[in-house]
Amino acid sequence: MARTFTATLQPLDTTIPDPALIVLIGAAGSGKSTFASTWAPSQVLELDAFRAMVSDEAGDQAATADAVAALRTVLEARLTRKKTTVVDATHCERAVRAGLVQAARRHGVPTVSVLMGTPVSLCVIRQTARTSDRAVPADTVRAQHTAAVTAFPGLRGEGFDHVVFADQLHRLEPLLQRASDARRADLGWDGNPGLGPLLLVRRVFGDAVLPLWRWVEGSTLAGGDRVAEITLGADRLQLALRTDIDGEGDYGFDLLTACPVDDECTAPAWTPAHSVTTLLDALTGALNDTDTVCTVHGDDQDDQDDDLEDLAAPYADAVHA
Ligand code: CTP
Ligand code: MG
Repeated sequence: MARTFTATLQPLDTTIPDPALIVLIGAAGSGKSTFASTWAPSQVLELDAFRAMVSDEAGDQAATADAVAALRTVLEARLTRKKTTVVDATHCERAVRAGLVQAARRHGVPTVSVLMGTPVSLCVIRQTARTSDRAVPADTVRAQHTAAVTAFPGLRGEGFDHVVFADQLHRLEPLLQRASDARRADLGWDGNPGLGPLLLVRRVFGDAVLPLWRWVEGSTLAGGDRVAEITLGADRLQLALRTDIDGEGDYGFDLLTACPVDDECTAPAWTPAHSVTTLLDALTGALNDTDTVCTVHGDDQDDQDDDLEDLAAPYADAVHA
C-alpha cells in the first residue's frame, strides 16, 4: 500500500541505498548522533568530533570552519571509494546541504536526507542534561528545529534522491548485530580465542588497561595466586587475582603496595583494587591504606583497636566513677 505524508502528499520513502550519502537533519538534542551510532563508527563523520580533532573542544564554534574543511576532505575520499557515509551535523542550512548533495553527485553516489522527528520541547529539555560546554541555548535549538521542519518539503527539490524520517527506519537490528558480534568475539564464541580471564580485568578496570595487561606465569609473589602486571614506559603496577575473597568464592584483584604498618618493611602488602581509580590512587600516592594487608605485619587494624581502647578507657572510667 502506498503511504503518503499527509502534509505534503509526498510518498513516505524509507529507502537507503548502499552506497549512499546519508545526511542527518535535526536540531541539537534531536538524537542524530544516537541514530548515527547504528552505523559502523568508520562510516560516520560527526562534525563535533572534527571540531574536537582540530581544537580539543567538540563545542568550540570558532573551530567550525576548520572542522568542516577536514570533514569534507574525508567525505571526498570516502565518496571517491563509493563508501556509504553518514554525516552527523544539524544540517539546518540549505547551503550546507547543497554542498553535500553536489559532492555526492560528482561521485555518482545517491543521497538520502534523514529527518529527526523529535519534538522541539524534548530537544530543549535534553540540553539541560549536558555539560555547559555542550549545551545549546534553547533559542538556538528552536531556530534549528524550525529550519529543519521548514526545509522538509523542499528536500527533494534540493536534489536528495530519498527523503526519509528517522522514525520510519528500522535501525535497532544493525546496532544489536554489531554489539552481538563484539560480545561473541569477546567470549570466544566466534571461533577466536576471546578475552578469557581478561573479561574480568575489563569488568573491573575498563578497556584502557587491557593492552597493558600481562599475566606473570609462575610467580610466587601472591602466595600461589595468579600474578599480573600493568606496564607502560617507566610505570609498573603488580596485581594478584584472588579467587576466593573472604572465603565466599568471589573473584577480584589485589594491588601490590607498601606495608601500612612499618615504613621499613619490604614484604609484599596487598590492597583490594576495586576499580581503575584504585590504580590511579596508587600511582599518585592517594591510596587509602585502611584495607591494605602486609604479608608480614597484617593490617594496621590492631593499632586502630589500640587507639579505640585508649579512647574508651577514660570514658569507661568516667561512667564507673
Ligand atoms: N536519546 C534518546 N533516545 C533516542 C535518541 C536519543 O533518549 N532514541 C537521547 C540520547 O541518549 C542523548 C540525547 O537524546 O542523551 C541527545 O541525543 P544525541 O544523539 O546526542 O543528539 P544530537 O542530535 O546528536 O545532538 P547534537 O546536535 O547536539 O550533537
Ligand atoms: Mg550529536
